[in-house]
Amino acid sequence: MQDPTLLTGRVLRTLANPFKGPAEETMRIETDWGLVLHRGHIADIGPAADLRKNWPQVTEIAYGRDLICPGFVDAHVHYPQTAIIASWGKRLIDWLNSYTFPEEMRFDDPAYAHEVAARYLDLTTANGTTTVSSFCTIHPASVDALMNEAQRRGQRIVAGKTCMDRNAPEELRDTAQSAYDDSKALLEKWHGVDRLAYAITPRFSPTSTPDQMSALGALWAEYPDCLMQTHLSEQTDEIGWVKSLYPEARDYLDTYEAHALLGANGLYGHAIHLEPRERDRLAEVGAALVHCPTSNTFIGSGLFDMAGLMADGHRIGLATDTGGGSSFSMLRTMAAAYEIGQLRGTPLHAAQLIWLATAGSAEALRMGDRIGTLDKGMEADLVVLDLASTAAIAQRAGRAESDWDDLFATIMMGDDRAIRATWIGGQVAG
Ligand code: GUN
Ligand code: ZN
Repeated sequence: MQDPTLLTGRVLRTLANPFKGPAEETMRIETDWGLVLHRGHIADIGPAADLRKNWPQVTEIAYGRDLICPGFVDAHVHYPQTAIIASWGKRLIDWLNSYTFPEEMRFDDPAYAHEVAARYLDLTTANGTTTVSSFCTIHPASVDALMNEAQRRGQRIVAGKTCMDRNAPEELRDTAQSAYDDSKALLEKWHGVDRLAYAITPRFSPTSTPDQMSALGALWAEYPDCLMQTHLSEQTDEIGWVKSLYPEARDYLDTYEAHALLGANGLYGHAIHLEPRERDRLAEVGAALVHCPTSNTFIGSGLFDMAGLMADGHRIGLATDTGGGSSFSMLRTMAAAYEIGQLRGTPLHAAQLIWLATAGSAEALRMGDRIGTLDKGMEADLVVLDLASTAAIAQRAGRAESDWDDLFATIMMGDDRAIRATWIGGQVAG
């Protein structure tokens, strides 16, 4: 690709959080605008005519009526579950035991881990996703596989070794000490290298002993700028199990809090059935919650309270939760978030949905200063959406009353066919 490059088309601009102000004022869709990409960053943004004048030497790629957006950011995934996505009919704990753990055991083979990591990044790139935060398996090589593959592609990702020292098959158990040692070694190897970041990753309270939770809490205290990712209050039977395993805990969140695993750089996946104390405490510390709507319907977990939690000032990202979620597509995930909003009587605007999949998730990952919006100086990770990608969407788009209405049809009906191009670090990917 020539550098600098000018991309022109419709352009999504993020001026502020659309949950905190009028959706169509905080977010804008500009027609005949463009971006100049230079050295992996956005060097300029504005009306196409101005950019052509100010950057006379650039090569232009004209996307016409396509919508240029920040690349999608998927804030909670399990790349090792790629091959078992959409496995039928179990509640969370049965689903883990029947499908997930047997598949995760296969990652003791580094070659298999590498094959799935590459396949996973191919699939997500084809769906317009440029950054993910992934759980790996207990095997350090599963982290190396994803980090190596992302590094080769120039991708900004977050990943961590999943730690479990109980309530999992023998082959998938580490110990408090080995979880600490392996996580520390991986963190020192990968965190901050190129565009890679490490997240300390206890799977969830039921699969860690209090000793392991404390060991990982101590590690986080040594590296407080690292993210810590885990699961919280996903299913009611899971919550009951947590209460029996941690009889002293005030609630599920307290199982993390008591072991120094609650903090501003914490990412708590699902967070559906929260007690008032948990809600207050999460907001107070500024932790991030991650909404996983296709997973929450697929595994039958419950309806995340987006409107209420946003109103209370929570930081919230959006995620597929592959493979508990049933899709690799953040468009399908936005559609599911809309439907869950409807079931709670709080429909989300297209601007709010796309904000969640870009700036919202980027802020949840504490990367909002580098990715998630198309401002000057940001990293050039983009997705270009064809807003008439199928006959069904094209005929509906013909009726669209506004650019937002046009985008909404693609959010509700679109998939990887709507991805005209994915740009990673200023280069076309895939
Ligand atoms: N809770 C603990 N592990 C998992 C997982 O792999 N997927 C989901 N959806 N929930 C979990
Ligand atoms: Zn998960």
